[in-house]
Amino acid sequence: MKIAIILGTRPEIIKMSPVIRECERRGLEYYILHTGQHYSYEMDRIFFEQLQLPAAKYNLDVGSGLHGAQTGKMLAGIEQILLEDTPDVVLVQGDTNTVLAGALAAAKLHIRVGHVEAGLRSFDRTMPEEINRIMADHISDYLFAPTETSKLNLLAEGIPQEKIFVTGNTVVDAVYQNLEISRQKVDALKDMNLKEKGYFLTTVHRAENTDSRERLSAILDGFRQVYEEFRLPIIFPAHPRTVKMMHEFGLQVPEGVRITEPAGYLEFLQLENGARLILTDSGGLQEEACILGVPCVTLRDNTERPETVDVGANMIAGRDIAACTRRMMQAGNGWKNPYGDGDAGKIMINELIANLLVVWC
Ligand code: UD1
Ligand code: UDP
Repeated sequence: MKIAIILGTRPEIIKMSPVIRECERRGLEYYILHTGQHYSYEMDRIFFEQLQLPAAKYNLDVGSGLHGAQTGKMLAGIEQILLEDTPDVVLVQGDTNTVLAGALAAAKLHIRVGHVEAGLRSFDRTMPEEINRIMADHISDYLFAPTETSKLNLLAEGIPQEKIFVTGNTVVDAVYQNLEISRQKVDALKDMNLKEKGYFLTTVHRAENTDSRERLSAILDGFRQVYEEFRLPIIFPAHPRTVKMMHEFGLQVPEGVRITEPAGYLEFLQLENGARLILTDSGGLQEEACILGVPCVTLRDNTERPETVDVGANMIAGRDIAACTRRMMQAGNGWKNPYGDGDAGKIMINELIANLLVVWC
């Protein structure tokens, strides 16, 4: 069995790392195909280094661009590689343009596709991610749904039960595998002169937040109010997209907000774990906050991670950032993590091997 693991962005590298480790552990034949959607050192290489992942066999270096151009370049590049280095199965993770291109290129070549983190739905088709994940789910052969909720979403769209496997989310594997390593290797709080539970952590990068002046400025104003009320520094490792748009719109950073470069995963896990509360529009952060027992306020109008809200770990802020922060400051942290026990990578590879054996026999 030969597996092609296609990835291209920060969260895909992190959430595929447990699957890659599982392939290594079992001595399976696999290769990594990197689209190059993310390419800055602190959005890409740093994760390969810190997580000690093998280098990608192929890198398409597609870089940034409009959706059509970026996805089109990936599609053409991936197709060529899959034709030359034919795998039995392609794995993609999440909802980026890389996922759409990887799944589509493979499906058109009649190569089996496994979608890791299948079945998430925000029910908001203005989001590029929602379009990507729906398309990927409908052309995949193995849908690795993290929870029963995501499985139900897939069933409701008519995807046959036999294709769906509830595995948990590999984000739990990644957190468990790396938190201890991070404690041994880095001391992010000391380096940044922060006190345990003495700061808020934030990230913002989603198109609907960064590409609208009004929306981005409302988020910064929300931070201003939060700082006025709680007087805790707000640490903001900013995605390059957000920095670019803040400059373009001429927006000022409010008092109390500390913008930094994007952090490495080992440092970032500590920043999350030590935070009093996390404010974010990131999918991965909503999950990681829930896993680490840190209350979360989501800087969006909806979420495809309703499990985090249901267990009481997360609140969707809409326009009420300060009010939701106040509410979540009262939340305890005794909820149960709904994303599994940290063995999603193993479960997936088991299912993949079992199912491919059935096809071959
Ligand atoms: C992409 C995904 C999003 C995911 C996010 C993870 C899509 C449609 N979006 O959004 O779902 O949550 O990755 O972080 O696939 N840039 C750099 N260096 C980089 C990468 C990007 O400077 O290494 C800047 C460029 O100005 C670029 C912008 O960020 O134009 C946006 O990058 P892009 O990959 O298009 O989307 P993300 O916002 O990163
Ligand atoms: N992350 C990181 N450094 C940062 C910000 C995020 O290592 O400065 C990690 C975070 O721990 C999570 C992932 O990146 O695992 C989330 O990526 P992102 O928010 O870019 O994408 P999303 O999850 O929204 O698709």
